[in-house]
Amino acid sequence: KKIAILASGSGSNAEKIMEHFQASNKAQIVLIGTNKKDAFVLERAKKFDVPTFIFTKAELEGGNLTQKLVELQVDWVILAGFLLKIPQNLIDNYANKIINIHPALLPKYGGKGMYGMHVHCAVKEAGDNETGITIHLVNENYDEGKIIFQAATSIDEKDSPEEIAQKVHALEHKYFPQVIESML
Ligand code: GRF
Repeated sequence: KKIAILASGSGSNAEKIMEHFQASNKAQIVLIGTNKKDAFVLERAKKFDVPTFIFTKAELEGGNLTQKLVELQVDWVILAGFLLKIPQNLIDNYANKIINIHPALLPKYGGKGMYGMHVHCAVKEAGDNETGITIHLVNENYDEGKIIFQAATSIDEKDSPEEIAQKVHALEHKYFPQVIESML
């Protein structure tokens, strides 16, 4: 199976996924795509010799990325910290084949503005005693596709948003690669 990963930022999840499939013969990471030409994920792709593809929002919406993925015969598209809304042209070509990870227990704390530290600040503000990750299929609405997997971690009021983020990242790195493999 061929996998493409889309990321807009650091790409620590992308790295864990590349590492995981380097050792597994179940799939191959054939592309790292990003809308940010200075995204650190590009450095991580170099380390794993994975080709990269930088595109603008307009190109994403115009179908350039979808065309590239179809040409490469990509089977699965993984969103790992990708901050643009997935356009209909990509959803139409990859129905139920786009997987996203969200750093909270959806349906709580979902939606457009809920990314990065915003989520962890909101969880802390609410005084929740747990948070976690949600891995789900992507449809045309932010964070509303079918939930595939969730994992939770306990938190308490002395945890800073940064400490919460660390606990959530640990869950992401532990589970995302194996959940992807279970879907292939
Ligand atoms: C992760 O917290 C993920 O849940 C969210 O964006 C962040 C990406 O982190 N979608 P990284 O770029 O993989 O380090």
